Amino acid sequence: MALGKRLRAAALGLAVIGCAAYGIYHDAHVQAVAKTSARQASDGQELFAAMCQTCHGRGGDGSGGAPVLNSGATVQKYQDTAALAHFIRTRMPASDPGVLTRPEAWDLALFINKLNHRLPGNP
Ligand code: HEC
Repeated sequence: MALGKRLRAAALGLAVIGCAAYGIYHDAHVQAVAKTSARQASDGQELFAAMCQTCHGRGGDGSGGAPVLNSGATVQKYQDTAALAHFIRTRMPASDPGVLTRPEAWDLALFINKLNHRLPGNP
């Protein structure tokens, strides 16, 4: 009997430790995902300055003559980040479409999301 109780206590202890460990793992994972998309958006910002700004203006303000990209309206035209990234990869830069890799187009789409205040996880 005493052994049964001890086993049950041990099992309960392990379950508690397991849940706590999962909680810590889960928080770290959520933070890692948020960090990754923040880093990608900042890579996108550098690419944007180098390849997009001449036409779309600084921060996508439209001062180069091409459409404004920071009004909040741009991202509403695309169903989600993947659709925006696909447009960018296949159609931009307008002067040389097709030069961007998928990861570059994705980073640019995340940066444009940021300009439009579209949050990660809210596609
Ligand atoms: C040579 C000028 C030029 C460059 C460089 C350029 N664009 Fe564009 N962009 C345009 C023009 C013109 C349009 C509108 C015509 C169209 O949609 O094809 C446009 C449209 C867009 C749109 C769609 C806007 C909307 O309201 O639907 C996005 C998004 C975009 N560009 C992103 C980019 C990104 C990201 C880059 C850099 C990789 C880039 N563009 C580089 C000229 C340019």
